[in-house]
Amino acid sequence: MSEVMVMPVKKRLFFGGNWKAFMRPSKTAGFIAGFADGVKPHIDDLKESGTRVVIASPSACLTEARRALDEQGLREVVELAVQDPWFVEGAYTGATTFEAAADPLIGARYALIGHSETREPHRIYCHQARAEFKPPQVSTEDALVNLCPTLLSERQLAKLSELDSGNPKPFRVAIGPVVNRTTRKALSAGIVPIVCVGETLEEREAGKTQKTIEFQMAAALEGFTPEQIAKMVVAYEPVWAIGTGRTATPEQAQEVHAQIAGILMGRTKTKENTVPIIYGGSMKPDNAASLVKQPDIWGGLIGGASLKPDVFLQLIMNGIQSRG
Ligand code: PGA
Repeated sequence: MSEVMVMPVKKRLFFGGNWKAFMRPSKTAGFIAGFADGVKPHIDDLKESGTRVVIASPSACLTEARRALDEQGLREVVELAVQDPWFVEGAYTGATTFEAAADPLIGARYALIGHSETREPHRIYCHQARAEFKPPQVSTEDALVNLCPTLLSERQLAKLSELDSGNPKPFRVAIGPVVNRTTRKALSAGIVPIVCVGETLEEREAGKTQKTIEFQMAAALEGFTPEQIAKMVVAYEPVWAIGTGRTATPEQAQEVHAQIAGILMGRTKTKENTVPIIYGGSMKPDNAASLVKQPDIWGGLIGGASLKPDVFLQLIMNGIQSRG
């Protein structure tokens, strides 16, 4: 267990449950009823501590989640987040827009943007595609429009962001410029972006963690004012820790959180970071406390352990209690 360090004054805990694609509409009300039963005796503690609790639900369950939260009187206690929204209304089959998420029947206040599960399939596909067939010879612009998931690395795509002008292209790849534009849209829609960054195991083992974070943060934050950045949340999620049961140690996580805090302070021109930076990657009730005791870890983005209401609540309460 790591040593407790001095807390920044403004650090409010933040716990987001990321249901990914595990939930169904018919199971949503049951989860929320279970969470309501568990949380009611703790509501005063939760409110007094200023802890924010968010559920990032699959799109198909958002309306039911809103209905159930209202029915249980939890509107003030649990906020909703939309997962990986698309930044323009229109002919984009399969997309969920900010307009839909902010609609009164849902009222999402947050959005998960750039989660590795929306970046990573394209990286994997990219490796497979390179191994299996020779890429056709096409111009860079054609590649960007038609083949970018298979042909271009995130870094190359970010360099090409100037091509990504005004007229969004119909692919759903959460790479740098798309993360950036989606974040911009979130802010203009009054939705708080939860911008996810994190290195792969390959990158960590090659000693490239810091560079990866630096690059992903730069791509995500490019062009934003300090005031806009102050309204965001950042999630550090090492890809190798997501869904693997292999949590980053508090020291490993803190090291990257401190780096992110430094980047944010540089951009917001402040001496103390006020942007919540939450950790994601196999956070569980029994490791939450040691993580959130770290000075730059404000809470968690929780996948597996958010799928059972009692486990999710236990994790949140362990986090709060660790703060004394
Ligand atoms: P996990 O997922 O808690 O299941 O590792 C975290 C996330 O992907 O947000």
